[in-house]
Amino acid sequence: MSNPSLLILPGDGIGPEVMAEVRKVIDWYGAKRDLKFDVSEDLVGGCAYDKHGTPLTDETMAKAQEVDAVLLGAVGGPKYDNLDFSVKPERGLLRLRKEMDLFSNLRPAQCFDALADFSSLKKDVVAGLDIMIIRELTSGVYFGEPRGIIKEGNERVGINTQRYTESEIARVARSAFELARKRGNKVCSMEKANVMESGILWRDVVQEIHDAEYPDVELSHMYADAGAMQLTRWPKQFDVIVTDNLFGDLLSDLAAMLTGSLGMLPSASLGLPMANGRPKALYEPVHGSAPDIAGQGKANPIACILSFAMALRYSFDEGEEATRLEEAVNAVLAKGLRTADLLGEEGVQPVSTAEMGDAIVAALDESL
Ligand code: IPM
Ligand code: MG
Repeated sequence: MSNPSLLILPGDGIGPEVMAEVRKVIDWYGAKRDLKFDVSEDLVGGCAYDKHGTPLTDETMAKAQEVDAVLLGAVGGPKYDNLDFSVKPERGLLRLRKEMDLFSNLRPAQCFDALADFSSLKKDVVAGLDIMIIRELTSGVYFGEPRGIIKEGNERVGINTQRYTESEIARVARSAFELARKRGNKVCSMEKANVMESGILWRDVVQEIHDAEYPDVELSHMYADAGAMQLTRWPKQFDVIVTDNLFGDLLSDLAAMLTGSLGMLPSASLGLPMANGRPKALYEPVHGSAPDIAGQGKANPIACILSFAMALRYSFDEGEEATRLEEAVNAVLAKGLRTADLLGEEGVQPVSTAEMGDAIVAALDESL
């Protein structure tokens, strides 16, 4: 059998730097665990625009459809702020999500013991936190029609449409219930059923899927604004949160920051199973391209490395190896190694992006 295939899209800003550390980890698995991947690399975002005039070429899109998993760094930067909307770096990422039909976006918010002091919240509120936000990723107001900026009389009107079909809600609800069964068996669904029809439908469909197929899972519903409040008040009340595309965008940034740094958090975007049984999948850190620190060796590679751990778990059925990698990260943090985003402790000198990557690889060696 041929090796599973990975397409790496480092993207812009700190994307290439953090991805270089992931390459070390991938190489380690090939050499030490006989887990070999056929890796290819390509462009997405601003760098693709610079070379090809588009943030994602059709060829790269086609490759992404064929591989077993895509690993993406980050896209965007101030250089591209004034580009036409249709060729902005973010459009490349949105096209991947939409055309691969990656409807279920898993965004864990986990607090590493060694980092509980970095949260802006009190330590006991966040210590041991382990929640999973499942964000619907291919529909809602991000993609709904009509959209655009039109002229009405003598003024302009900006239009976006929140739109959800029953089947779109049902499939992301199922993925939330499935995942909850492997965790704390609890799902909280968030919408704004008090003001939006799409929210009323969301609540109804999630409840129907629950009652018919997952009655064993504990289900609650919350308005998304109250959900944001509860996430900062006592986040440990949650296990799995399922929500729409836009609320999920906001709530996942909020949840990420509970853990102290955006530089720590991975994500998985999953679609339907392919012919080989693996889901269509793209893995990427939650953080952005951080152009202000790009190229300086200051970026934290952990979110991107943990995204590869999610790939091991969700695409390649290597849960034990994923746990090994997560534990290696934990061990390095416990030793006190910190990239510049994690400073604050007295007398701690930051390590570089590459030093952090090397330390994680060394911890992997020690795990054998
Ligand atoms: C995210 C980002 C993206 C989004 C941007 C870069 C298009 O904020 O993945 O959360 O809004 O979905
Ligand atoms: Mg976001």
